[in-house]
Amino acid sequence: MRALHLIVAFFCLAEAKGISVEQRRKVVQSFSVRRNASSDTTPLQVGNGNFAFGADITGLQTFKPFAIMNTWGWHNFSFPTTPGQTSVEDYTGLEWWTHGRLVRYEQPNPAQNDISNWLRENPHRLNLANVGLHFGGHDVVESDLEEKTQELDMWSGRLTSSSRFNGSKIVVQTWADSDSDTVAVQVQSPLLKRGDIGLFLDFPYPDKEKFNAPFVGHFNLASKHKTTLKQLSPQSAQIKHTLDDTTYYTLIQWEGSEATITGPLDGTHRYVLAPKSSSKIQLVISFSPTPNFSSKKASYRQITTASRNWWKNYWTKGAFIDLTPVHSDPRALELQRRIIHSQYLTAVNSASDFPPQESGLVNNGWHGKFHLEMNLWHTLPFARWNHLDLFHRSLPHLYNQLLPSSLSRAEKQGYNGARWGKMTDPLTGRSSPGEINSLLIWQQPHPMFFAETDYLSHPNNLTTLQKWDAILTETANFMADFAWFNSSTKVYDLGPPLYPVSENTNPNITLNPTFELAYWRFGLDVATKWKARLNQTSPEIWGIVRDNLAPLPVVNNTYATYEGIPNMWIAAETTFDHPAQAGIFGLLPPSPQVDLTVVNNTARKIKETWRLNESYGWDFALLAMNSLRLGDVEQAVEYLLHPIFKFDDAGYAVGGERVPTPYFPNSAGLLMAVGMMAGGWVDDEGVKLPEQWVREGARAEGFVVAL
Ligand SMILES: *[C@@H]1O[C@H](CO)[C@@H](O)[C@H](O)[C@H]1NC(C)=O
Ligand SMILES: *[C@@H]1O[C@H](CO)[C@@H](O)[C@H](O)[C@H]1NC(C)=O
Ligand SMILES: *[C@@H]1O[C@H](CO)[C@@H](O)[C@H](O)[C@H]1NC(C)=O
Ligand SMILES: *[C@@H]1O[C@H](CO)[C@@H](O)[C@H](O)[C@H]1NC(C)=O
Ligand SMILES: *[C@@H]1O[C@H](CO)[C@@H](O)[C@H](O)[C@H]1NC(C)=O
Ligand SMILES: *[C@@H]1O[C@H](CO)[C@@H](O)[C@H](O)[C@H]1NC(C)=O
Ligand SMILES: *[C@@H]1O[C@H](CO)[C@@H](O)[C@H](O)[C@H]1NC(C)=O
Ligand SMILES: *[C@@H]1O[C@H](CO)[C@@H](O)[C@H](O)[C@H]1NC(C)=O
Ligand SMILES: *[C@@H]1O[C@H](CO)[C@@H](O)[C@H](O)[C@H]1NC(C)=O
Ligand SMILES: *[C@@H]1O[C@H](CO)[C@@H](O)[C@H](O)[C@H]1NC(C)=O
Ligand SMILES: *[C@@H]1O[C@H](CO)[C@@H](O)[C@H](O)[C@H]1NC(C)=O
Repeated sequence: MRALHLIVAFFCLAEAKGISVEQRRKVVQSFSVRRNASSDTTPLQVGNGNFAFGADITGLQTFKPFAIMNTWGWHNFSFPTTPGQTSVEDYTGLEWWTHGRLVRYEQPNPAQNDISNWLRENPHRLNLANVGLHFGGHDVVESDLEEKTQELDMWSGRLTSSSRFNGSKIVVQTWADSDSDTVAVQVQSPLLKRGDIGLFLDFPYPDKEKFNAPFVGHFNLASKHKTTLKQLSPQSAQIKHTLDDTTYYTLIQWEGSEATITGPLDGTHRYVLAPKSSSKIQLVISFSPTPNFSSKKASYRQITTASRNWWKNYWTKGAFIDLTPVHSDPRALELQRRIIHSQYLTAVNSASDFPPQESGLVNNGWHGKFHLEMNLWHTLPFARWNHLDLFHRSLPHLYNQLLPSSLSRAEKQGYNGARWGKMTDPLTGRSSPGEINSLLIWQQPHPMFFAETDYLSHPNNLTTLQKWDAILTETANFMADFAWFNSSTKVYDLGPPLYPVSENTNPNITLNPTFELAYWRFGLDVATKWKARLNQTSPEIWGIVRDNLAPLPVVNNTYATYEGIPNMWIAAETTFDHPAQAGIFGLLPPSPQVDLTVVNNTARKIKETWRLNESYGWDFALLAMNSLRLGDVEQAVEYLLHPIFKFDDAGYAVGGERVPTPYFPNSAGLLMAVGMMAGGWVDDEGVKLPEQWVREGARAEGFVVAL
């Protein structure tokens, strides 16, 4: 067993000096986002990973109802009243033949449409509110504002928005608290004192759509929900919002001006805050599930200080890569832009106490639920970029929380151990009904990947070993039992039925997908090593299955999607969606079972034949990592700047037809691949940037090596 010696590698290339705080600030601020109009698809955000506020050109939600979303704001529609489907317990799913026996899967049951749909759509994540400029009842549109400018300073988390209305300037600053569901807003304008503008707060009701991009919820369904206003003091008020069984509270505190708050306006849940004594007002708006607000920070200044400190710390303490000295190759600057924007946006949207949804806190994809297989992308970059505090926000507690429901899922299906669900939420632990949802398996070994990454940062640490032990044990118990001993070939098979990473095969014939086989072997190997590190013996079956899994399927000297796939590489039906076979070398650490020549052939074949024009998400990052390990840095850079791998002016990854915009797995994937370029991996530490970039002074420091 190779010693895991290196914890954090510091690579200073051009000179043996670190990248100074001043230089980091210059790089970050050179990518400040500037807009002069609202985007139709993405806001500019301030936030903290568990809470985010999406703003239009006014720094608020005046003209575009971008969302305020967080970790705990969820809602259920009322349960269907269909006879025989009166409770969650009545849902049966569907039975499918699985190695000669019927296994019940959490799939939509055509005889139970109402309950199946309800389970998929509930609970869903809420847009908590909208806050915007109020023009005294005049019908004002964005084009009525002149001289609009906006700047997001990622070094301090400050959004400054300025415009002119009816001849007078309006300047808004927007900040989020670093550790509570709180936004701080300062509005400066002579129009305030004249009573020409104020602020509104409005509250939406959710809808049943799977994707709510770009906007979440309806502001015209007032009769379906309730709000009540309670003035707490001359400078504070609370609004209670009740939607069916969900209730939460909005606390509004103001300083700098006297103001009245009134509402709701007829037929709406819109409230108006009208300042009257000053041309400046500072607001602190907090959200809480109970009427007692825990945050001690009540003043605008306290929030702005917290934001400045948190962001400076974030940019200063983590890993950093500086490509700005490279002048000969414009790709370096574009890559740097994507990196800085992705670092900001993943801290705002993905550094959550629970896995984020693919669209983060911007809008809803899949009803606001998260996908456990995507969690690897979302969370790993925090470890690679040396932000272990953010990595540990959700790990390992997420798996402890989901363990009881996952043990029960496996037991009902007749397996040992814990079978992790797929599309879920923090409240129920249920896996939403779906054929793909129930048959996808590549989320199963993720705890091993996370645990091993954690261990790499804390070698020989008993606390680390103990906190993952029960999770790894139950995960390995399931994985060993799920693999099926084929008495004719004398190997352990995976599937059928199953869906591989690429979700585009017939599950009833999908057998031994390449990536899943390699990942199963890796996972069982980590579980076995884990027990040895604890001086415990592991169940014999883990080693037996690990050592006797079916061989990786090879077709014409390349890795196939799965064993026996018809027309691999020939028919267009086999060369689209996620090219997961690139992950056995790109994502997983090298293994003796993986043949480098075959990996190399496969990489070439993917480049030649895969329909990358239809790829989305992290495919390009995966291919880039594979290229890096193969020693082809140039190809890795090309993949990370592929024309289909798009990031908008503010760095939001463009989703495309199949997934909503933004699509944060792209941002996370980019950071994973860049982390490997900057820090290398256990077997081959160090920087892997184009040589010319290094000669011109590109440098990186503080990265944690990949497995
Ligand atoms: C707004 O920004 C765009 C893109 O940066 C620029 O082309 C345009 O000139 C700007 N318009 C004004 C009025 O500043
Ligand atoms: C929605 O209903 C489920 C039970 O089916 C419950 O566990 C969950 O807490 C509810 N969520 C909300 C936000 O009410
Ligand atoms: C797979 O097999 C199950 C029965 O086990 C069947 O209900 C289902 O329709 C089949 N699906 C496909 C895509 O063939
Ligand atoms: C614009 O300002 C004038 C006074 O300067 C005022 O009478 C008018 O109501 C204002 N218009 C709006 C839309 O606020
Ligand atoms: C918060 O308020 C709720 C409802 O009034 C109460 O039950 C709960 O004990 C309070 N919690 C704290 C921490 O004060
Ligand atoms: C083990 O790791 C934890 C963090 O998970 C750390 O707090 C603790 O100090 C470490 N213990 C040792 C002995 O290094
Ligand atoms: C055993 O493996 C062979 C070759 O992979 C496969 O064709 C066959 O379907 C497997 N047997 C069963 C019963 O699944
Ligand atoms: C395992 O045993 C070795 C050798 O006796 C000892 O040094 C180590 O501390 C033990 N580790 C644990 C986690 O008990
Ligand atoms: C293997 O390659 C040969 C020659 O290019 C081709 O004719 C054959 O169809 C390929 N087989 C498969 C299974 O792709
Ligand atoms: C992608 O390219 C393939 C072949 O080059 C083409 O058949 C397909 O229509 C393209 N897809 C899209 C969405 O443009
Ligand atoms: C991969 O194949 C190419 C030829 O296509 C070769 O130049 C390169 O050295 C190979 N890389 C590895 C790691 O085998």
